Amino acid sequence: MITKVIVTSGPTREWIDPVRYISNASSGKMGFNLAESAKQLTTNIVYIAGGVDLQYAIVPDAKCISVETTDDLMRAVLAEMEDNTLLIMAAAPADYRSLHPKDQKMKKQLGQKGLVLELTENPDILKNVSLKKKERSLKNFWTLGFSAETESLEQNAKVKLEAKGVDWIAGNIVGKNLGFGEVESEIILFYKNGESKKIGPGTKQYLAENIISEIQKALPSV
Ligand code: CTP
Repeated sequence: MITKVIVTSGPTREWIDPVRYISNASSGKMGFNLAESAKQLTTNIVYIAGGVDLQYAIVPDAKCISVETTDDLMRAVLAEMEDNTLLIMAAAPADYRSLHPKDQKMKKQLGQKGLVLELTENPDILKNVSLKKKERSLKNFWTLGFSAETESLEQNAKVKLEAKGVDWIAGNIVGKNLGFGEVESEIILFYKNGESKKIGPGTKQYLAENIISEIQKALPSV
């Protein structure tokens, strides 16, 4: 029985100076649609959004939390974990942040042809969630991760399913005009028992509704 659904959404931002950041092309639309669709599971929805497009910042009737960096997102997720919860990690957290973010705007060095930025790795949120779930012996805590790939979808998705210790991975192919924003796309849902199911092609609303239905069907047997 699910009494809470946490949905993370959109990109995180890692500032390199007060006016520039590292981020990615996630709009937040998938996370928003999943949070809306998850209302068929419970009324207790927690929506944690990074730098999403304005129309995806607030999910009506949900507890909405706005975050900026991958660290912020991880803290917010870990704080919301409890028994009987489904966590949907639709966010696209930045994997790296600047090792030495500058306090002042970086100035262009005249005559300098290139620039090397030193980055350091961000924590993997899902791996930390799996650890915390074990540490706290949470009961009925399920996780759905995404696998955004530009190639070798099945292989990469299956590796992430195992490595991140999640119950399901929704794999999708992304690229310049694929998978981000308004376009129609398709998802392959990978299960821990090796099975998979194709959903779509369709709008993100269609994909979200069907992902939630599939999870709802699978839940008692997890
Ligand atoms: N994710 C996470 N913590 C991160 C990065 C990603 O928990 N620091 C989650 C995403 O929310 C998603 C899943 O892990 O549910 C896979 O994200 P993806 O960007 O496809 O993979 P990465 O782990 O970042 O690996 P790679 O960039 O090498 O594909």
